[in-house]
Amino acid sequence: MADLILSLVTILLALPLVYFSALNLNNIFAILLLIAITIPTIYAMLKGAPFVPTPMKRAEKIVKMAKIKKGQVVYDIGCGDGRFVYIAANKYGAKAIGIELSPLVYLLALIRKLFWRSKAHIKYGDFALYNLKNADIIFCYLLPDTLKKLQPMIDKKIKKGTIIYSYAFQIPNWKLIHTEDRDKESNFAPVFVYQKI
Ligand SMILES: C[S@@+](CC[C@H](N)C(=O)[O-])C[C@H]1O[C@@H](n2cnc3c(N)ncnc32)[C@H](O)[C@@H]1O
Repeated sequence: MADLILSLVTILLALPLVYFSALNLNNIFAILLLIAITIPTIYAMLKGAPFVPTPMKRAEKIVKMAKIKKGQVVYDIGCGDGRFVYIAANKYGAKAIGIELSPLVYLLALIRKLFWRSKAHIKYGDFALYNLKNADIIFCYLLPDTLKKLQPMIDKKIKKGTIIYSYAFQIPNWKLIHTEDRDKESNFAPVFVYQKI
């Protein structure tokens, strides 16, 4: 049922794009709107990763692994449709914040927030511009190149003791505290866990 709703929402979000592409491009408003939507979306892909959600079962398991205590501050940097922060807030009582740079995906996260009736916050923008000093736990699913660039930011912007769960890709040169291996049955990617020292 949830997947059906999600598909419908995604189709609804895609409709404006189909609509704009069919428009007479003399319409300056349409061109500007198209640019306003597509450029940040492509930018998000180049800046961090394209929108590929973590499979729901894997996301649930990762959040469970984090053993979140009520009131802990949890971020998903590049939160996609918000699944990590909704699970963290709704199931474990976290103060959860998702940051998303792609406008369409951000909109999708906001719509899903209504379905989840979640108290998690979804913020728009580049996570590199946010202060993450209050984070107890950070989830991310970003490309290796981005994780490489993320390293100095993590060193400066997060406090000692923060735990980072990176889905699928490792943060280079960081000492792992735990690895959850690839799930052979469902072929879910591994999870790499780090702690800021
Ligand atoms: C691979 S998806 C993961 C989504 C979600 N975390 C999950 O695991 O289901 C990466 C997301 O990060 C977003 N993103 C990429 N670079 C970003 C940045 N610099 N700031 C905020 N979001 C970013 C992308 O738009 C995309 O939605």
